[in-house]
Amino acid sequence: MRRLTMQQVQNADLILSGAQIATLGSALTGYGIIENGALAIADGKILWVGKATDLPAHIVAKQTLDCAGKWLLPGFIDCHTHLVFAGNRADEFEQRLTGVSYAEIAKRGGGIRRTMTATREANEKTLLALAKKRAKTLLRQGVTCIEVKSGYGLDTETELKLLRVARRLGKELPVTIRTTFLGAHALPPEFQDNADGYIDLVCEEMLPQAHAEGLVDAVDVFCEGIGFNLEQTRRVFETARSLGLPVKLHAEQLSNLGGSELAAEFGALSVDHIEFLDEAGVKAIGASGTVATLLPGAFYFLKETQKPPIALLRQYKVPMALATDFNPGSSPICQLPLMLNMGCTLFGLTPLEALQGVTLNSARALGLSDRLGSITVGKQADILLMDISHPNQLAYEFGIDYIEAMWRAGQPIKL
Ligand code: NIG
Ligand code: FE
Repeated sequence: MRRLTMQQVQNADLILSGAQIATLGSALTGYGIIENGALAIADGKILWVGKATDLPAHIVAKQTLDCAGKWLLPGFIDCHTHLVFAGNRADEFEQRLTGVSYAEIAKRGGGIRRTMTATREANEKTLLALAKKRAKTLLRQGVTCIEVKSGYGLDTETELKLLRVARRLGKELPVTIRTTFLGAHALPPEFQDNADGYIDLVCEEMLPQAHAEGLVDAVDVFCEGIGFNLEQTRRVFETARSLGLPVKLHAEQLSNLGGSELAAEFGALSVDHIEFLDEAGVKAIGASGTVATLLPGAFYFLKETQKPPIALLRQYKVPMALATDFNPGSSPICQLPLMLNMGCTLFGLTPLEALQGVTLNSARALGLSDRLGSITVGKQADILLMDISHPNQLAYEFGIDYIEAMWRAGQPIKL
């Protein structure tokens, strides 16, 4: 027997034993299943993971939990949401059911602008309460990290207000929040027929101020016929670059403007929606290591028929993420597990691809894959304990609460 010195002993705060583990650590190893596994957590991070029989004797736990053969998975990550807004657009939904299109509603002054008005009128407290309810809903589904975009303020004061609310969410709930500045989401009425003037405001005032207050983790633009054109998008990206901020893009959702190629040029973290992405665009994002974020909720809700080019994305080995795009206009669906199912049924993903889409690839889409997104030693211990027979079950059926326990940064989360 080898004698252990005090120095060799490693204290774990918690050891989860007797588990099936899906580490989801790399595209190459698929689910990364470890049967009869154990996982040690120390200081909020994963200290050790492997077969229970290989757990080194020098790792000593303050507390051990027998998982009784249930599954451990990394916490889910929703890498695209518009979580902070006031009001709803149920009446526009009714209009759409009679045949009026999303683009037509936007042209008539509805859509994003409607939500802007309600959001400008709401105070920070109200917005926080609304956003908290939504974030808690995601949390209970096993979501431990949420990206939150601004974009319903469309003036400096309100855009900053939304980002502050997002930051507060991360302080008040056990969830990692990443903020994305989306000032260039739609044209506010003050700048009717003067999109370039609005982009001046975004680049010269809004974004620099939001950044100076430490409110911005990434920068996004709605690059679309009913949004902003390529030249305007480029200007926002250049401002982001000058401030050292990474970019992402709402691209190729309703048409192909070539936004993804521009995003690739700026080394974007992700391009999102991309139903109308063509091979040249796929090639470009493949070369820049940009993640393709698929948003089946918006596809479904808008009754879109053009599907994202999944086969090409596979061919060019573009990592695919899945997210809710939760927002009041195109995806009022606060359900990340449902996106796993929709990713498979609507877009033809495999259950494994879908699961990778809400874990490691979602972390990549936020530039966080070095610390979140898989059960890997050294990463933050965001862990789900699930009563399932195999992780492929998660894309197959939804609506059932499989979560028995969850931890965020090693701390148990009360469900
Ligand atoms: O991601 N495309 C732009 N933004 C949202 C929709 C916002 C809205 O309609 O309020 C989206 O689909
Ligand atoms: Fe969106």
